[in-house]
Parts: sequence; structure tokens; C-alpha cells
Amino acid sequence: MAKPLADIAVETKLPMLVTPLPGPNAKTIVAKDAQFVSPSYTRGYPLVAKSGRGAIVEDVDGNQFLDFAAGIAVVSTGHCHPRVVEAIQKQAAELIHISGTDFYYPNLVELAERLAGIAPGKEAKKVYFGNSGTEAVEAAIKLARYSTRRDKIIAFHGCFHGRTLGALSLTASKAVQRKGFGALLAGVFHIPYPNSYRCPYGNPSPCTCVESATFLETEIFKRLVDPSEVAAVFIEPIQGEGGYVPAPKEFLIELQRICRKHGILLVADEVQSGMGRTGKWWAGDHAGLEPDILCVAKGIASGMPLSATIARASLMDWQPGAHASTFGGNPVCIAAALATMDLLETQYIENARRAGEFLMDQMADWPVCHKIVGDVRGKGLMLGVEIVRDKKTKERAGDLREEIVNRAFEKGLLLLGAGENTIRIAPPLVIDQEQAEFAARTLEQCIADVEKSA
Ligand SMILES: Cc1ncc(COP(=O)(O)O)c(C=O)c1O
Repeated sequence: MAKPLADIAVETKLPMLVTPLPGPNAKTIVAKDAQFVSPSYTRGYPLVAKSGRGAIVEDVDGNQFLDFAAGIAVVSTGHCHPRVVEAIQKQAAELIHISGTDFYYPNLVELAERLAGIAPGKEAKKVYFGNSGTEAVEAAIKLARYSTRRDKIIAFHGCFHGRTLGALSLTASKAVQRKGFGALLAGVFHIPYPNSYRCPYGNPSPCTCVESATFLETEIFKRLVDPSEVAAVFIEPIQGEGGYVPAPKEFLIELQRICRKHGILLVADEVQSGMGRTGKWWAGDHAGLEPDILCVAKGIASGMPLSATIARASLMDWQPGAHASTFGGNPVCIAAALATMDLLETQYIENARRAGEFLMDQMADWPVCHKIVGDVRGKGLMLGVEIVRDKKTKERAGDLREEIVNRAFEKGLLLLGAGENTIRIAPPLVIDQEQAEFAARTLEQCIADVEKSA
């Protein structure tokens, strides 16, 4: 692995805990948070962050943690990378906001050109800017409907596309995300997501799950909706919130073929898997995917709120006024994104690939050595460890997963769950070998401890 942190003066590379957790200051803030902050957030353990540098986060009591969650796969270049901070400070001193909806400014065009350049496919691209992943998806839904003049959409079980009402209509990750909100967008059909470990069609593992694509033609287009009415298929090439499940290459290629055949747009939601996290710009690149529309957010600006919906130029032909947002493409966020892209391009995408391979090597035998590890999977630094109660039945063990994640926190390693029973490994793309080794060792220790008491 390279030494990607060479240009970041980090004093600490590994966790250092100085109080019991949570510490006294953290306890006070958690209590006040309960009083004033929306209870819809899903905090697992009481990390109260004060500062961050590289892959290290310090809490309000001076405890230092190794961050393998990256603010939910967001801080791609690590916390407060000096070049990103410098770009933000410089831009903030020059122009904070003018609104790209009504006026022009240079860095918006520069970023659009750069994103168009790295989006897959030969055709020229255009870019719409928003502030969040869900906005990138909203824009994609509207653009797909507008440009095809069709209104039906196909999405997949387990996928997460956001929480605004349009995007939520595609989200099929957890019922609680939909419960209580009434009717969603009509004309959305969900089909089983391919899962090589748990093939929805009962094939033995590992499986290419091509049936998950052909199911469209064998069932959906025959029984539920004529393909001529379908605007788009939305897919996460690696399912994120749903459990860090990579779609097999064979499935993605077949899905693309079916979409092309019926004039249906293929929308890749790379909000979580994009911007180099998997060791290539896009997770779909591993399969040679050329989506018609690409949704990008999270890692694009190292933590500043920005999203992009990138589409073939001939497709993004909507009229002035058809779609816009006051804040979308804010100049300060764009400055952060340009600095982020420089760093990803020159160092960190390659580091994500190598660090991911290293971690996979460390974890590859866990399904054999640990009775509660059912599967280890993923690409680059988007890796999942699925926890099961019984390897034969593959019964999901969400409670054990929670216990493992909580124990890791107590040892100074920040992790998050994904789906019902998977541990998500999504560190900043800057981690070095020592940090990867520490994380793998600590996580394995937590798994072994929980296994003993299970
Ligand atoms: C694949 C994917 N799409 C969309 C979203 C929504 O992004 P945001 O929370 O920024 O609205 C997420 C968030 O986790 C995501 O993982």
C-alpha cells in the first residue's frame, strides 16, 4: 500500500481512548440531543465528534477513534484534508453563494466538465447539481420521465435511493423508512436484487443471479407493465444501505442489454459506491456499465453537501425552469469537490483498490474460521461482513452484528451496520496499512468475543 497520508501531518494513526465511553462531555451532549434533536436519526453508539484528521476522529472528551465509517462513506479524502480545507477557505473568502440556477460562475462549469469526462460512455454528458444523494435521485427520476415521456420505474428490493418522496418510492431497504408516510409515487415496480450469497432464485452460492435481470422479461413485462411504458431501471451496482451487496457483473451486463433493447434508461445510483470508493471511479466500471444517468453524492466533496446527476447530453434536454435548486452546486462545495477529485485521481482511488485488496486478504478466511461470519464481500473500500446465527440456514443475526459494532466502538474503531445483519467497512480512502491491519485485527477480535458468548 502506498503512503497516502504523506501529505497530511497526522500525529495519531491509531485509536487512543482516555475516558470510559461515553465520556462526561459526550454524555451531556447526548442527553441534550435527546431533548432537542429529531428522534428520526438512527444513532447506534454515543460517538460525539469534535474534530477529525485523516482517518482519525477525536471526540469531545479527547478520545481518538479510527474511523471506518467515514461519515457514512462521505469523507473520501479523510477528515479535513489540508488541500480540501484550503480550497474551501479560499473559495469562502471569494464567493460563498450566487446560485447556479440564475447566474454563471467558473468552478461550476469546471466541475461539470470534469465529471462529464469521467462518466462512463463515449457520448458527451451534461450535469445537474444538487445538495444530497436523494436530490440526485429525484433529478434522475424527473429527467427519466421527462426525456422518455414514460412514467413507470423499476427498482430493486433492498436498495436505498433516499428519503424524499420520489426517491423514497424507489427505496425498498427497510419498511420503517416508508412507514407512516402514505402513498408514494405510483408506477414503481420492485424486483429482487441479485445476491450471490443469498440467490433470490435459490441457486447455490456463489451465483451470478442473471435471473434477477431476465425476471424483467419473463415476469414483469409479461404480467405487470409493458416495457414501452417504463422510463427507467434504477440500480445500485453495489447495494449500500441494504447490506453492501455487489451485483454480479453478469447480471449488470444482462440488465443493461434488456434496458437497451426496450429503450429503457439505465440509472446507476452510485451515491455510495462512486467517487473511487471501489478502486475505480464507479462501481459499475468493474462490469463495463454505461448507464444513461449516473447519480453521485456522498464522497464527491469530502463532506461538503453536493450531488450530481450526470446524463448523456442528448438526454438532458429539459427546458429552462424544468428543474433547479437554489443551493445546488454551491461554489464552496464545488471547490471542495475539485480538490477532492485531484486527490482521488492522483492517490486515493489507487489506495482504495490496494487497501481494499489488503483488507479482503485479511478477512477472506473469516467465513471458514468464524461460525457467525456468513460472507465477506465487496470491492475496494466498500466491504461487507455478513453476520449469521447459523451458516447452513444463513439466519440473519442483526443482534450479534449490533454487539460487534458496539464492541468495536469500545475499542476505538468506528463501524456502521448495513442492512439487517452486515457490518459495513467504508473508511476514508486514505487509510494506510497499519490502520487497515488494526481495523481487521480489532474487528476479528470483536467477532470472536461475540461468537463465544453467542
Ligand atoms: C445509494 C444511495 N442513494 C441515495 C442516498 C441518499 O443520499 P442522501 O442521504 O445524501 O440523501 C444514499 C444514502 O445513503 C445512498 O446510499
